Amino acid sequence: MSNNWWRDAVFYQVYVRSFADGNGDGIGDLEGLRSRLDHLVTLGVDALWLTPFYTSPMADHGYDVADPRDVDPQFGDLATFDRLLADAHDRGLRVTIDLVPNHSSDRHVWFAEALLAPPGSPARGRYIFRDGRGPGGDEPPNNWPSIFGGPAWHRVPDGQWYLHIFAPEQPDLNWDNPEVSADLATTLRFWLDRGVDGFRIDVGHGMAKPAGLPDMTVTDLKLLENDDDDLRFNAPGVHDIHRMIRGVLDEYPGSMAVGEVWVRDDDELRKYIRPDELHLSFNFRSVEARWRADELRSAVEHELHVVAGTGSPPCWVLSNHDVVRHVSRYGEGLVGERRARAAALLLLGLPGVAYLYNGEELGLPNVELPDEVLQDPTWVRSGGTERGRDACRIPLPWAAGEPPYGFSPAGVETWLPMPAGWSLLAADSQDGDEGSMLNLYRAALGVRRKNPAVSGDLEWLDAPAGCLAFRREGGLVCLVNTTNAPVDLPAGEVALTSVPLVDGRLPGDAAVWLTA
Ligand code: NOJ
Ligand code: CA
Repeated sequence: MSNNWWRDAVFYQVYVRSFADGNGDGIGDLEGLRSRLDHLVTLGVDALWLTPFYTSPMADHGYDVADPRDVDPQFGDLATFDRLLADAHDRGLRVTIDLVPNHSSDRHVWFAEALLAPPGSPARGRYIFRDGRGPGGDEPPNNWPSIFGGPAWHRVPDGQWYLHIFAPEQPDLNWDNPEVSADLATTLRFWLDRGVDGFRIDVGHGMAKPAGLPDMTVTDLKLLENDDDDLRFNAPGVHDIHRMIRGVLDEYPGSMAVGEVWVRDDDELRKYIRPDELHLSFNFRSVEARWRADELRSAVEHELHVVAGTGSPPCWVLSNHDVVRHVSRYGEGLVGERRARAAALLLLGLPGVAYLYNGEELGLPNVELPDEVLQDPTWVRSGGTERGRDACRIPLPWAAGEPPYGFSPAGVETWLPMPAGWSLLAADSQDGDEGSMLNLYRAALGVRRKNPAVSGDLEWLDAPAGCLAFRREGGLVCLVNTTNAPVDLPAGEVALTSVPLVDGRLPGDAAVWLTA
């Protein structure tokens, strides 16, 4: 198979905890995923991205990794992973996994050693320990806040402080230490040798810290938000780290990496996809754009500008496990669902790579949960002012009926409660329903496969106010109507519509694909 398989691939993000439960404990796992691979084959995606399934105390649901080269018992074991990988490959699905290089868990053996070792020791040198400021060193070393709320420093019994940009259970690693870099290379090879096809790199704009850890001038950042002025991210040294990672990947032809790079400046973002760095970087502008033709078009234009001349294809995404699901972002209920159908044709009609988030093919919305079941660390750390990301992480409904809808056996409590009234969203309800979201995604992926486009070339077409229209390489034309009034279709043969045409015209909040 081609080493460039990823250049126009559709990836499917599996939030492992919420995809399917194989052993009946209410938590999604690798065996559950293996048992549902056929859903993904029928859907028509090319590759998977699995969120972290490594040994973890789950303070941030796996993004706190205690052993990056083993599987957490909650999710299975290495043998389960190998079976899953083999079965996915047998079905033609590539498998990419998450890599968390910015921090480890506080239960990582290195951190246990650091706590036992004195200030200034090599064991502390793998993390970012500092003396505090003020009398007795009682003040944190600088004024950085944690992304999840509260200060980004935690004091240990001997009086030193360690840095944690995220939760205190996620101490930041010291990327100036060659041991840290060597260990990541070992982790990369460990999984590549098992046969994985690539990685999604967590906090890909983090890792390197600004020299001297200066105070921030802006500290009233909203929690979980990503700001270009946040000096903790996008420090120049980050690019050496990506070069190191790329060096290892280049030993494994056909492997790839995509970065979670929350950088909005086009010129800065472009640096991450230089030929010796990442293969891809997510375009988060398409996550942030509201359902307005000008904002959607601007998101597309920025991404095309970012990738122009780099040799990297554009990389689109609408939802993931950190943001409000787009059905809810675009307006909830029937309006949100209708717009999400149109957005699916926009996302999958664009040239390059697309990432789907599990459940978007079922049209799942965010679900507001009662305070007492919230699990995102942000909820507690913000003192109950920021609800966090649980609402977009509800387990997937597989079968109509009562909760847990076939996610787990009947009567089992799922790790986040599933709402009543999801029967019609369940995969088995949608399977045979021609007009369902699931069948729209299946049809779109089928048409897309027959009309490949990797170069990022796109020609904008004239479109009525509130609409956007383009022809991508290969000739597929996409028209999106964000207004509530019908518009005429461009020339061409209709290949797919998000909702039925009305008198030959495209109704509001809808999209159409046409071929020449
Ligand atoms: C980004 C991940 O997507 C998010 O879920 C996690 O909390 C942070 N990085 C910290 O690892
Ligand atoms: Ca389970």
